[in-house]
Amino acid sequence: MRTTFTFRSAGNLVFGRHAVRELNCVLDRIGSKRVFVVTDKVLAKVGIVDQVKEAACRPVEVFDGGEPEPSLGMVQSCIAAAKAFRPDTIVGLGGGSNMDAAKLAAVVLGHGGDVRDYVGENKVPGPVLPLVCVPTTAGTGSEVSQAAVFTNTDIHLKVSVLSYYLRPTAAVVDPLLTVSCPPKVTADSGIDALTHAIEAYTAVDNATYPLPPGETSVYQGKNPFADMCAEKAITLVGRYLRRAVRDGNDLEARDGMALAATLGGLAFSNAGVALVHAMEYPVGAAVHVSHGAGNGLLLPFVMRYNASARQEDFGYVAELLGDDTTGEYEAGAAEAAITAVEQLKRDIGIPARLRDIGVKEDMLAPFAEKAFSFKRLMRVNPRYPTQAEIEQIYRAAW
Ligand SMILES: NC(=O)c1ccc[n+]([C@@H]2O[C@H](COP(=O)([O-])OP(=O)(O)OC[C@H]3O[C@@H](n4cnc5c(N)ncnc54)[C@H](O)[C@@H]3O)[C@@H](O)[C@H]2O)c1
Ligand SMILES: [Fe+2]
Repeated sequence: MRTTFTFRSAGNLVFGRHAVRELNCVLDRIGSKRVFVVTDKVLAKVGIVDQVKEAACRPVEVFDGGEPEPSLGMVQSCIAAAKAFRPDTIVGLGGGSNMDAAKLAAVVLGHGGDVRDYVGENKVPGPVLPLVCVPTTAGTGSEVSQAAVFTNTDIHLKVSVLSYYLRPTAAVVDPLLTVSCPPKVTADSGIDALTHAIEAYTAVDNATYPLPPGETSVYQGKNPFADMCAEKAITLVGRYLRRAVRDGNDLEARDGMALAATLGGLAFSNAGVALVHAMEYPVGAAVHVSHGAGNGLLLPFVMRYNASARQEDFGYVAELLGDDTTGEYEAGAAEAAITAVEQLKRDIGIPARLRDIGVKEDMLAPFAEKAFSFKRLMRVNPRYPTQAEIEQIYRAAW
């Protein structure tokens, strides 16, 4: 039985409007001379790449071939470009997709081999190249997390590299960089942050985390530090996500969502994510849907499955999201949290059903088999599901 937990983050966290101007100092502290920036053409077009180049105050090489939900091929071309430049520091600039590609480049430049060699938990043998993450969406929390996700197109599955060494050396979180996010990106990445916070907050308890003897995991289950981050993140999403989607220039809402995303990242990367993420990975690899929209779609259905195991916590989630449940955590309160998430989904335009995003009914059984294979996510879930139960949840969401 585990009775202790550790709280991990990025080595340094610089947060606030204009935080990007601190990049020069951040790079100085690392001693960076050759900086390789992983980003994409959208961010070049809106002027964010230029802002970062200027703030870096040293020559940088820019790779702008990033794409949403990075594929193996894109990650490999990013790594090839990085190798050719021989940087001493990698900057991930963008949403989770670019930050994750940057993390993967930092791994392969540090340790060689192929990126697929590192898929799974704790396969990275030691420190990677110094890594600075600068998020431009308010969502994934990758700037503080130990994860990097890509789509292994060989096996049609989203896969993760999970290692303590993937926590960035520094995270520079500037809410102003998210102002240019279109409403859909704001909505999808914002509900991903909510999913992180809810999955961490309702995770299996740290004290009873079912880790087989001799195994290690980057996740540790629900614990007071992760709870603190998750609670604040849920409150902020309830207060600000609709506003940020409605008016991208609402700076108070952008501040709130940037904080929610980073806090959500701290919560999930210490406690864990669970069944929603496991179920999204096969969906995201099979049909064209963003990680956030896929998670948001599935979230209330998984909450309903988990409700019996976490009535009180879900009651509190409802309260944090703004529901007037006034502290009475009885049967029905979990339902209030589900209703609140369903309402939020509708208000920000997250698709309601799997059939709406191109999933066919005969895909559901293979999805369930794949989702069930993510043991590290199953064991964080407050109820350990059977494959048949996962299929039932997919059917309900279909
Ligand atoms: N590593 C982790 O801890 C972690 C956690 C959750 C999700 N993820 C992964 O992150 C990815 C999703 O990341 P995301 O939701 O941040 O979206 P994203 O990085 O895929 O970006 C989506 C789109 O928004 C655009 N965009 C980003 N910032 C913008 C801005 N400021 N202005 C205008 N356009 C902007 C991008 O160019 C892109 O076209 C998925 O691959 C997911 O699996 C990783
Ligand atoms: Fe996520």
